[in-house]
Amino acid sequence: AAGRGRVEFRDVSFGYPGAEEPVLKDISFTAEPGRTTAIIGSTGAGKTTLLNLIPRLYDAGGGQVLIDGVPVDRLTREALSEAVAAVPQKPYLFSGTIASNLRYGAQGATDEELWEALEIAQATDFVRDKDGGLDAPISQGGTNVSGGQRQRLCIARALAARPSVYLFDDSFSALDVATDARLRAALKRSIADATVILVAQRVATITEADEILVLDDGRIVGRGTHEQLLETNETYREIVES
Ligand code: CTP
Ligand code: MG
Repeated sequence: AAGRGRVEFRDVSFGYPGAEEPVLKDISFTAEPGRTTAIIGSTGAGKTTLLNLIPRLYDAGGGQVLIDGVPVDRLTREALSEAVAAVPQKPYLFSGTIASNLRYGAQGATDEELWEALEIAQATDFVRDKDGGLDAPISQGGTNVSGGQRQRLCIARALAARPSVYLFDDSFSALDVATDARLRAALKRSIADATVILVAQRVATITEADEILVLDDGRIVGRGTHEQLLETNETYREIVES
């Protein structure tokens, strides 16, 4: 049975194999359904690594990552991929068609559902303009679409999978400010009940989050809303003002 998608980190630590220093240390937080949790921090702080522990691209070295109270290493691969959809920092498209790329993780989705996902992802216009529409060819790695289009197709792919947990790793960075704003407004309406964890650089993307975690050198050094952190957290101020 599908849970609601509550993600919890309990004292999580992680180090890459062979590395001496852990990349994540004592990470504890809860991301609730219906809320957006934003993670910010300078490059190399560990944001992508943290997200990757949720779908088990890596396993935590210490502590636990749980979804709806169940440790992720006790979920089947199938249950995990049903629960979580991630849009990676470097979104990847496979050779095939737009439709086959969108159906990766959502095999049963109808064309109508794919168009709905594209609409939310602000990708309807360019897919409609492509010869073949949903059946337009995509080359290996998605080199025949732009970076921003690739990003939006990967967002649509995540939406088509209808998970309870969405992970967006800097997924709005290649979009212009207006498209970014429209996309986030559409997301808010369409996945209002889901758990959203996002990594973002753009201040406007962060300020709307329900909770912001400030990551510095693998540790959470601050948490709260934009206003709270502006008042209390030096690291946050530096990041936002830079
Ligand atoms: N790292 C590593 N091996 C990997 C990936 C990352 O050793 N396969 C290291 C990086 O060199 C870095 C740390 O792990 O020191 C955290 O990396 P990452 O989680 O990717 O940092 P981000 O905060 O995501 O950085 P960015 O903003 O540049 O995406
Ligand atoms: Mg990263």
